[in-house]
Amino acid sequence: MKLAVVGGGSTYTPELADGFARLRESLPVGELVLIDPDTERLELVGGLARRILARQGHPGTVTTTSDLDAGVADADAVLLQLRVGGQAARLQDETWPLECGCVGQETTGAGGLAKALRTVPVVLDIAERVRRSNPGAWIIDFTNPVGIVTRALLRAGHKAVGLCNVAIGFQRKFARLLDLAPADIHLDHVGLNHLTWELGVRLGGPDGADLLPRLLARHGEAIAADLHLPRHVLDRLGVVPSYYLRYFYAHDEVVRELATQPSRAAKVAAMERELLALYADPALDEKPALLAQRGGAFYSEAAVDLAAALLGDGGPSVQVVNTRNDGTLPFLPDDAVVEVQARVDASGAVPLAVPRLDPLYAGLIAQVTAYEDLALDAALRGGRERVFRALLAHPLVGQVERAEGLTDRLLAHNKEHLPWA
Ligand code: G6P
Ligand code: MN
Repeated sequence: MKLAVVGGGSTYTPELADGFARLRESLPVGELVLIDPDTERLELVGGLARRILARQGHPGTVTTTSDLDAGVADADAVLLQLRVGGQAARLQDETWPLECGCVGQETTGAGGLAKALRTVPVVLDIAERVRRSNPGAWIIDFTNPVGIVTRALLRAGHKAVGLCNVAIGFQRKFARLLDLAPADIHLDHVGLNHLTWELGVRLGGPDGADLLPRLLARHGEAIAADLHLPRHVLDRLGVVPSYYLRYFYAHDEVVRELATQPSRAAKVAAMERELLALYADPALDEKPALLAQRGGAFYSEAAVDLAAALLGDGGPSVQVVNTRNDGTLPFLPDDAVVEVQARVDASGAVPLAVPRLDPLYAGLIAQVTAYEDLALDAALRGGRERVFRALLAHPLVGQVERAEGLTDRLLAHNKEHLPWA
């Protein structure tokens, strides 16, 4: 089996190599191809990936290339983990929205829109080239904003599934708190990418007993502290929102904090420099502890699970993915992309049924889906007015003057990446 990773020079790649090496029973990878325009990074990251496989006695090879078409040829699956404009563009996304009193974040709000505009055309071009060379290949997208990017891929008819590590992170955390194995926990995980709630924590599978009330009673304090939300929010909702919901539930507080703190982009850029220096050490043959400080913890596990279900012959498995709504949330268009539990096998992902949602969640989901629709339209067709419409529709913007100010800044800061701006 051959897997290709576009953006393979990412500092996250050793996480993936580690996952493939440890979980080789479920996914026998013969060749891992890392594809990246940055040859220096490829060399460093590829070297460490090779040593990680070797240390664990994995028979697979790791190759590197900057030639996308050569890299994806014959791949069974192509993983997308690229970042157009790198951390420098992320730093912008996190900064200029604050000037308009709005959250500056890489996937939520105006910064997320900028990222979508830069990313969608690049990903669609890559997907087209994958399809030309290899129509049967699965595309697994971790490239943010995953909801909008996956929607773009599916609308263009690609064999794609979107992936995020938020759910697997909660699964691991809740399992630890409840003293259970992660596989014993099934999450009633509902929403859109980076806009989700855990409505239930079930023992053993989708029909198991709901442990969430017990979890909140015993560990509500710790979970709330982790999310930087007041405890009473969890008690009153009776569910666990993802940490991205803080950008909505505590928007103004977050804006005040962000205005006085160094940005996440700056912290990550410093961490990346340190990581790359570590990767250069030929004696290092495992993922360094520092990597655990990145937000993508456990993403290798989620990726291996998903690739194994799409490519393996282990039969269907249930996991949280981003896929077509098709009536799962009946108040959304069929072609919206939702993030829910789905049955995944070689034919793709089919969401499990979701009970009727409380309007408290349904309303926000519907509004952000409308924003995503307009964001995708702006990404595909360009134009100032389309950017403005997407921003005006976003629940964290909503006012004309703010949407105007954000539109001006978004376009000014992204000229280099948006030929039409
Ligand atoms: C979480 C999200 C990812 C995001 C990451 C950022 O894992 O699910 O979509 O890319 O956080 O982490 P970073 O360490 O770059 O801030
Ligand atoms: Mn994510």
